[in-house]
Amino acid sequence: ALPVPPMSIRFDQSAGTLSPEGPTLTRRMSDLEGLFRDHAAWQKAVADGDPVVYSVISSPVPEIDRELPQSITTIQPGTTAGELWMTKGHQHPNHQGEIYLGISGRGGLLMFDGTETRWVEMTPGTIGYMPPGWAHRSVNIGDEPYSFLAVYPGGAGHDYGWVLEHGMGLRALSGTDGVEFVDYVEG
Ligand code: F6R
Ligand code: ZN
Repeated sequence: ALPVPPMSIRFDQSAGTLSPEGPTLTRRMSDLEGLFRDHAAWQKAVADGDPVVYSVISSPVPEIDRELPQSITTIQPGTTAGELWMTKGHQHPNHQGEIYLGISGRGGLLMFDGTETRWVEMTPGTIGYMPPGWAHRSVNIGDEPYSFLAVYPGGAGHDYGWVLEHGMGLRALSGTDGVEFVDYVEG
């Protein structure tokens, strides 16, 4: 990856684009294997059209040490067997911090340090802070797409296996009065 010059990056919310743009990523249900508590319901959703759960668009800032890449994630509204649609979630192996800024919709930021779980509700204008060593997953808790900006150290790295192995402490389900949390393992 090559360094980039000072620049302004424009987010066009209605088009869902950044310009200039970097890599984009689309995560479908089939990309979220092993993450929902109800495996059969997950399989059925994959067979039933394999919907897009979220997408991530990035600026051209490279993921290398000392750079500060940014990306915008948009999670679609939905549930799988009551579990709110979410990102895979990851730990930064080098234990570096990160910030999110809520842009539109309503979401939550679930953080887990291996012992404790924290939940930060995210609405437009909320800055969510992830200290070093806290794995993080985002959840759409509303009925429209939830979008947020992420800014993170370019050398942080992304460990998805950590969440598969340790979970996130809690799961976020759609309850009658909003979000309900259940123990990660028992669900
Ligand atoms: C970067 C970061 C976000 C996520 C994005 C998708 O460190 O935390 O940009 O990468 O919200 O979530 P994951 O990476 O868990 O699929
Ligand atoms: Zn991250």
